[in-house]
Amino acid sequence: MIQVKNLSKTLKNGHKVLDGISFTVNKGEFVGILGPSGAGKTLTIRCLNGLLKPDSGEVIIDIGNKQYDICKVSKKELRQIRQKIGLIFQGYHLVKRSSVLENVLIGKLGQISTLRSIFFGFNDAEAAEAIKALERVNMQSKAGRLVAGLSGGEMQRVAIARALFQSPGFLIADEPISNLDPSNSHIIMKMIKPLSENIPVIGVFHQPELTAKYCTRVIAIKEGKLIYDGDPKLTNQQLVEIYGEELNQLQEELIVSNEISNHAPVE
Ligand SMILES: Nc1ncnc2c1ncn2[C@@H]1O[C@H](COP(=O)(O)OP(=O)(O)OP(=O)(O)O)[C@@H](O)[C@H]1O
Ligand SMILES: [Mg+2]
Repeated sequence: MIQVKNLSKTLKNGHKVLDGISFTVNKGEFVGILGPSGAGKTLTIRCLNGLLKPDSGEVIIDIGNKQYDICKVSKKELRQIRQKIGLIFQGYHLVKRSSVLENVLIGKLGQISTLRSIFFGFNDAEAAEAIKALERVNMQSKAGRLVAGLSGGEMQRVAIARALFQSPGFLIADEPISNLDPSNSHIIMKMIKPLSENIPVIGVFHQPELTAKYCTRVIAIKEGKLIYDGDPKLTNQQLVEIYGEELNQLQEELIVSNEISNHAPVE
């Protein structure tokens, strides 16, 4: 479970970027965060993994049968907790000159001893586990390939495998499909969704048609405030309330996306 209570943050310039945000994500849920550009979605996500300290509020997380308020833990505890938070980002954050398998193994670097990590000393059992993570995203046949030669969709699958290899307590994604074409976006959403059967999954998206299809719940943030928390299928009126003028541009993208996804490969 991740429980966010009353998060607020004001920047030095006086801009209130988070204003009393509260929501809960349980195991079994895949929650999509929507909202216009600059709304505070990424800042909210950064509070969830302790990268940003809010001025007030709590982020209660359950990891390994223990509860923590990530805003209050020591730096040492935060480092340990972060090893159990799976992160997937828009830009993949992969080492391009390393192999697919090595990139997955990197997910656990923080969990092995410094000496072992200097020599990249993973044992056979760990390598087998990493291959299993690659199997879950259908990339096992490319384990030895350099990441530099992969397509964007393939890189994002490696990033998911790396997060899975960490055996995270929950999974956070910030725009994991923004660099992908509509067909690959569907493939990645189909891969992320089942992960929520075992752990809470939360992701930021700019594609309300995809969150409607794959997420179990949607929340919307606008001007630092939570303005919606509920059914992932939003009415046109709700979309207008969330996006305002940005909606026209989103709908143009939606038409293109629907046209292409009608021909999406089944995987
Ligand atoms: N490091 C920073 N310094 C100053 N302002 C910042 C910083 N990071 C974010 N902001 C501001 O905080 C607000 C919220 O930013 P955030 O990155 O959370 O937006 P977002 O909802 O993720 O937008 P997008 O959809 O474009 O990614 C914005 O007005 C942004 O300009
Ligand atoms: Mg953002």
